[in-house]
Amino acid sequence: MTIDGSPIHQATRVAIVGAGPAGLLLGQLLTVAGIDNIVIEQRSADHVLSRIRAGILECVTVDALRRAGVDARLREEGLVHHGIELSFGGVRHRIDFHALIGRDVTVYGQTEVTRDLMHARAAAGAQTIYEADAVSLHDFDGDRPRVRYRKQGVAHEVMCDFIAGCDGFHGVSRASVPDGAKRVFERVYPFGWLGILSETPPVADELIYASHARGFALCSMRSRTRSRYYVQVPSAEKAADWSDARFWDELRRRLDPQAAQSLVTGPSIEKSIAPLRSFVCEPMRFGQLFLAGDAAHIVPPTGAKGLNLAVSDVLYLADGLIAHYLHHDAHELDAYTQKCLHRVWAAERFSWWMTSLLHRFPDADAFAQRIQQAELDYLVHSHAACVSLAENYTGLPR
Ligand code: APR
Ligand code: PHB
Repeated sequence: MTIDGSPIHQATRVAIVGAGPAGLLLGQLLTVAGIDNIVIEQRSADHVLSRIRAGILECVTVDALRRAGVDARLREEGLVHHGIELSFGGVRHRIDFHALIGRDVTVYGQTEVTRDLMHARAAAGAQTIYEADAVSLHDFDGDRPRVRYRKQGVAHEVMCDFIAGCDGFHGVSRASVPDGAKRVFERVYPFGWLGILSETPPVADELIYASHARGFALCSMRSRTRSRYYVQVPSAEKAADWSDARFWDELRRRLDPQAAQSLVTGPSIEKSIAPLRSFVCEPMRFGQLFLAGDAAHIVPPTGAKGLNLAVSDVLYLADGLIAHYLHHDAHELDAYTQKCLHRVWAAERFSWWMTSLLHRFPDADAFAQRIQQAELDYLVHSHAACVSLAENYTGLPR
């Protein structure tokens, strides 16, 4: 606060709320294009980097990171996967994306993507305000939007042309829009994923998505020496009630005999439960406020789409802002909601479908279970169904 009690003022072109992958990637793409921006994040950088999240990158995402100039480590350390395995009835079936449609995915943790973006932002000298308290958005329905926050008790105000709400599902941006101006679509699933990270070699070269009478399980990885595993648990379950031994036992029971036998176990580095939810907010633009990433939509993690969808929004938004500032063309920004939602709903459908296909639903009767089995059988025996899975998993064209 200044001596007269008014906030300290700053001005920028784009105020970006949230320093997750969406906010940091948007900031980097704008900085590369010479468009001034400030990122305002409520947590510390260390806290942002302590969050463990999925790590499957579509080609579009890898290309976006290259465009932002943050793909060096990803190219060194990322693992290119040509397919996935589906496990049910004690047997594994490989879906070979590369053979089916000539496309792949890259395994590289979201935490590492965020770390690379933070380094690039610091190297470019772009401003990030961490540990910003009481962040609030003002006048985004007019032409002088502002973001206010407090830092160490001092009030600040950032004046800008546009606000990018990249502050995740629980952020302030979407909440700042009056209920009457937005419509939300939501499905909450009656289960969550209990995940652990361990310094153990992955059980297989590629990911295994396992459907089992005891529930879904996923074998993923972060590197050749670090694994990420999940088991479906009821929503009310507490991570504290799961010892490492209990987790490994449960996982083993849901895998095929060969994987169960070769599974290497070890102490967990992290253990947590994530709820599963599908959520979309429409529209994604409110005057000069644009929502991007988890602030606008959530997918259950089964299709590995969360980060990729955030990147897809950010590409549309960055291109729109670049067209606005460099070519005085508003068309791209005007089309933002429509372009994003087309892709969002495709990913929502796929994530919902994969979740429905592989999980045990507490209210599923015998008929529903037979239908699920029939769908799994059809999927692994039909070329057309495999192509559909491959297209969606590796990312639909933009
Ligand atoms: N003010 C400022 N920052 C905030 C506020 C707020 N009021 N509320 C939340 N944030 C910050 C969070 O601390 C977080 O760092 O916004 C950031 C949002 O980041 P993410 O939740 O990672 O969301 P996003 O960048 O959209 O990334 C999408 O993350 O959750 C996964 O599945 C998702 O992989 C996808 C990716
Ligand atoms: C992960 O590695 O955390 C992961 C991978 C694939 C998914 C979800 C999570 O579908």
